[in-house]
Formats: sequence, C-alpha cells, structure tokens
Amino acid sequence: MIPFQDLSGQFADLRTEIEGAIQNVLERNRFILGPEVEEFEKEFAAFLGHGQTIGVASGTDAILLTLKALGVGEGDEVITTPFTAAPTTMAIVLAGARPVFADIEEGGYGMDAAEAAQAISLRTRALVPVHIYGQALSIRKLCETACALGIPLVEDACQAHGVRFGKRMVGTFGAAGCFSFYPTKNLGACGDAGLVATADPYLAERLRMLRDYGRNGRDTFAQIGRNSRLDELQAAILRVKLRRLEKWNADRKKIAAIYLEELEGLPLKLPASRSPRGHVFHLFVIATPRRNELAAWLKRKDIETHVHYPVPVHLQPAMAFLGYKKGSLPRAEAAANSVLSLPMYPGMPEGHARKVAAEIRAFFKGPGLES
Ligand SMILES: Cc1ncc(COP(=O)(O)O)c(C=O)c1O
Repeated sequence: MIPFQDLSGQFADLRTEIEGAIQNVLERNRFILGPEVEEFEKEFAAFLGHGQTIGVASGTDAILLTLKALGVGEGDEVITTPFTAAPTTMAIVLAGARPVFADIEEGGYGMDAAEAAQAISLRTRALVPVHIYGQALSIRKLCETACALGIPLVEDACQAHGVRFGKRMVGTFGAAGCFSFYPTKNLGACGDAGLVATADPYLAERLRMLRDYGRNGRDTFAQIGRNSRLDELQAAILRVKLRRLEKWNADRKKIAAIYLEELEGLPLKLPASRSPRGHVFHLFVIATPRRNELAAWLKRKDIETHVHYPVPVHLQPAMAFLGYKKGSLPRAEAAANSVLSLPMYPGMPEGHARKVAAEIRAFFKGPGLES
C-alpha cells in the first residue's frame, strides 16, 4: 500500500523534542496565551522575515478575523477563488460579507488577476486569493489590482508555508497573510491551529483583541470578539516543527522532481513551478480528462490518491444562495473534473514515487482498467 500521506515518520524523528516541549507546558501550568505562543509568533515572523504574527485557533479563523479586523461585514463583497478548500469562502460568509468568485488562471489553478479586476464592484472590500497546492500565486499582478482600487489583499497562505514569490515569502505581500496549521499542512500542529501575519501594527492590535473576546486590558473589552486563541500546547509543538520546515519542504521538492521526471511526456498536465512562482508541493496535482479511470487504476494498484477539489466552491450546496450555476466559472469547473493529487509527504520513500509514476505510465501505455 502506498499511502497518500504518512505523518508517523515525522513524529518518530521528533518524539523526544515534542514530548519535552509538551512536558514543559504541563509543568509550567500556563495553557493560554503564554510564552510558547509569544515565542512561536516571533519565530514565525522571523521565518517570514516580516512584521508580526498573531496565533489563532485555525486557518478559517485567521481569514475570518482578518476580514473583521479590516472592517469587512454586512453588505460588503469579497472577491475570492472558487477553486480552493471551502473554508476560505466560509470565512468570508461568516464575516457577514458576500463572496464573489473570480475564475482561475488559464493553465494554472490560482486566481486570475484579470478575472478579479472584472469582479470588482463599488461594494468590494477585500480580495482573498489562495496560494493553492503550495504554489505562489501571480501575486504581483493581484497586488496591483488590489492597490489600484485601494482594496486590501488578504492572502490565503494556508497551503503555502515557506514558499517564495521571487525572494519573498508568500503571506507577506498583502495587508495580511493567513496560515493554517491543520496537521497535514507543510507545517502542521497536533490539532487545529492558525496564524495571521501582518506588517500593519493597527491590524495586529485589532486581531489580538478579536481572538481574545475583544479584550484590550485584563478586565476591559473594547469590541465584540470571540475565543480564537492558539493554545500553548500547539504552539510548543509548532516551535519544534518550524525548525524542520525548510528541510521538509526540500524533501517534498525532491519527491516532486522524481514525479516530474518520470511523468514527462505523458498526456497529463503536470505542476509548473516556473520562476518567480515557487512551489512547496503541499499537494502534487496532475490533471487528465481520464482522472476517474486513472484514480481507479491506481487504487487497484494499492496507491492512495485524492481529489482537491471535486466540486468547486460556487457549486457547493451551502453556496446555492449566491446563485452561481454550472458553467459560470468554466476554468474552475474543468479543473475540478480533471485534477488528481498523488501521494506526497516529507520522508516519502523515493521508491514509492517511482512506483506511482510507473503505474501511471502503465495506465497510459496499457489497456487501462480493462487489463
Ligand atoms: C486553502 C485553505 N484555506 C483555508 C483553510 C482552513 O484552515 P483550517 O482547517 O485550519 O481552518 C484550509 C485548510 O483546510 C485551506 O487549505
């Protein structure tokens, strides 16, 4: 069996450090907004080389609280991509705004800047593109679109820890960058966790209040806030793992290089990591009109694959109220029908990547499912 992901090696390598970090928190007896969160926030800001960071409970909350801190709410529109994990859009709706979808770029999976520009109206209050699969977006163009109209850009970098556009890390281009530390992310906690990065001290202050019941002093509450704090145990674990992130990203790139070499020449769309848009391969995604057949073939060979994402967000039942119909965002819909994510994780044996590629080659050369 070749699994899609396997986190057990990560834990085995870091067992002593993680157990030590947990022990420290337990002995310190301080579980909420203590030194681990404070240090992790500093360390992640240093890693990004940028401003300050605010630890929160999840990636969804990172986006939701950022929009709220920017003053987005009822009656506002937020432009986003239909080709992403649903929580990006959920955060927009939970903030009280209406998502407006801009289709993805030709030949890629990120938001198209021209489509975003076309979706702008007088009600637009923010632009939320996603560095999907771990690849940096055409962020310069999106920044220009947002800047020209004076609209804040909120980067959903939930799948893009440590990827650069040119020399600069993503999550540092917009008014804010939002990260998720869901366990399977390139930097994953042992539970839910998230973070916002921003160079704007005013926004940072608002976010610190919003994650902590709106509190701005021990017993004073300046605004309506919620409980969305990153907790000490997760922060302590994330501090250990952050020190390995660059190495893990390099491991992912090695596996990606094997796939790219071994799959070249097949009738497949392969991920294109062209400069200046870096890729940290949170997911290694290929595309073919024969996606379902190929997935079934690989399953029969004991190779686990997944589809990110089989239904674009604008066609999800929860979004029916927005009134989008099939065919309204054709590039996202075509992508949803053709993408397939192959096994990918740091520490994945290279032999597994070669075996997966060999089975894909066999599928295209041979009689497919009939064999
Ligand atoms: C692109 C994207 N945005 C937002 C989220 C939400 O993050 P979380 O699961 O930490 O709330 C995720 C993670 O699933 C994601 O992949």
